[in-house]
Amino acid sequence: MAILREGDGVAQVELHSLHLRDGLDIPDGMLSEQERHRAAAFRSAEARRLFVAGRFLCRRVLGNLLGCAPQALSIAIALSGRPYLSDHPDIDFNISHVRDRVALAICRGGLIGIDIERLDAFSETEAREIMPMILSEHELDQMHQLDALDRHDAFVACWVQKEAVLKCLGQGFLADPQSVILVPGDTTYSINCQASDEPIFIRSGRMGDGETTDFQWAIATSRAATEPQWRHHIGGISL
Ligand SMILES: CC(C)(COP(=O)(O)OP(=O)(O)OC[C@H]1O[C@@H](n2cnc3c(N)ncnc32)[C@H](O)[C@@H]1OP(=O)(O)O)[C@@H](O)C(=O)NCCC(=O)NCCS
Repeated sequence: MAILREGDGVAQVELHSLHLRDGLDIPDGMLSEQERHRAAAFRSAEARRLFVAGRFLCRRVLGNLLGCAPQALSIAIALSGRPYLSDHPDIDFNISHVRDRVALAICRGGLIGIDIERLDAFSETEAREIMPMILSEHELDQMHQLDALDRHDAFVACWVQKEAVLKCLGQGFLADPQSVILVPGDTTYSINCQASDEPIFIRSGRMGDGETTDFQWAIATSRAATEPQWRHHIGGISL
C-alpha cells in the first residue's frame, strides 16, 4: 500500500471495512497485552469479537502503512476513550463497528472520526423518539417535511454524520449532538459546529456487499480531505 502523503493543505484519507463472516474468529495474537485484557473483560461475545476485529484491522492496515510489525504499533487511549498513535502524531485513525462490520478511517494531515450504522438501526417509533435529542429544531422541521421512508433514511444519515463529527473532535456523545448543525441531503460540506471553533468537513454515503443490509457511513475531518476510497476485506484473509 502506498504511504498516504499530505499535499497542498489537503488531508489524505483511506477507508477500510472488514466483514466478519459467520463463525469467523479473528485471532487476538496481534493485540497488545492491554488490548487482550480489555477483550477478555467483555461480557458480550459479540462486543469482544468486534473490539478484537477493530484492533486487528487497525494494526494490520496501519502496520502495513507505516512499514512496521502490527504488534509494534503503540496505540494509546485518550481520557475521552479516543484511541491514537502515540508515535505518529501526523496520522490519525478512528474505528466504528456494528454487528458483523468494522470500519477504519485513516487520515494523514488532520483528525478524523468515522461512524457506520445499519440502515435498519432504528424502528420508525424509535427514530421518532430519538430525533428531538439529536436534531436541532430547524433540522427537525426539515425532517418532518419528508415522507416516512425518506425521513428514516435522512435521520440515519444525520445520526452518522453527527457522530462522526463528535468522534473527530474526540468528544463522542459527551458533547451535545444538537451543537452539530447539518444540512440534510448534502454529502460534502463544512459545517457550523458549536462544539468546535474550526470548520469540520464531512463525507457520507452508503455501502453494502449485495448480501447484507446496507450501511450508512460518514467521516468527518478537521481539514478538507481527498475523495476517500473504500477497501473491503473479508475475514482476515485479504488484509
Ligand atoms: C465515542 C462513542 C460515540 C462511540 O460510540 P459507539 O456506539 O461505541 O460507536 P462506534 O462503534 O462507532 O465507535 C467505537 C469506537 O470509537 C472509538 N472511540 C471511543 N471513544 C472515542 C472518542 N471519545 N472519540 C472518538 N472515538 C472514540 C474507539 O475506537 C471505539 O472502538 P473500540 O473501543 O473497539 O476501540 C461513544 O462511546 C461515546 O459517546 N463516548 C463518549 C466518551 C466517553 O463516554 N468516554 C468515557 C471515558 S473512557
